[in-house]
Amino acid sequence: MLPRWFIPAGILMACIALVPFALVARKRAVETSRTRPQIIFDMDQEPKFKTQSPNALFADRRAMRPEVPGTVARGELREDDHFYRGKVGDQWAVDFPAPVTREMMNRGKERYEIYCMPCHGYAGDGDGPVAQRAEKLAEGTWIPPTSYHSDALRKKPVGEIFNTITNGIRTMPSYAGQVPPADRWAIIAYVRALQRSRWATIDDVPAAERDGLR
Ligand code: HEC
Repeated sequence: MLPRWFIPAGILMACIALVPFALVARKRAVETSRTRPQIIFDMDQEPKFKTQSPNALFADRRAMRPEVPGTVARGELREDDHFYRGKVGDQWAVDFPAPVTREMMNRGKERYEIYCMPCHGYAGDGDGPVAQRAEKLAEGTWIPPTSYHSDALRKKPVGEIFNTITNGIRTMPSYAGQVPPADRWAIIAYVRALQRSRWATIDDVPAAERDGLR
């Protein structure tokens, strides 16, 4: 025969046994800014510094350390002055570091129309959509992009134009971040083609194709 208290005690215990589940259910439903208690840590919290976080150990209090000056990443030694800086000796290069090919010209046209055309326009007159919009807004702060078809720019050494893309010039920003060196040269080849086309005569067109033009 069971004692009289056995059944009520059993019911009570069964109710108490549900409490942890109720607590878990509550924790799952209610928002809190505190981190949840964790039973198995795995590698969720690690004693490390994340990007952009502070670190009092260093004088500038940044956990992210700058490169040691003069660091060169593997395979990124930029020794070739002509290719990487547009310089030959201490003069601006007047020729391209590699022969200009049809492929390079196509690449240059494509890159030009992405990165330069918005300001300088399809034909290099300085009338791209950004320039047009700025004229329309008439805020008085806009310096129009230089036309490529002036004598001065036609004579400008390719190396100097390379430097203009790399470092920007006066109000034009640098495009080094968007346009890697090989693409800069391709763009310059295309700029040269634009300049040449403006001054082309009928003699520049192959004889076989002249008919349609006259
Ligand atoms: C955001 C608009 C903008 C874009 C995009 C832009 N430029 Fe310019 N560019 C200018 C402006 C503005 C000037 C004139 C700067 C001045 O005189 O203050 C200029 C000037 C120049 C000059 C003349 C520099 C000189 O020696 O006088 C060259 C060459 C040139 N840009 C090439 C490029 C090439 C190549 C690209 C594409 C990689 C490009 N620009 C993209 C706005 C732009």
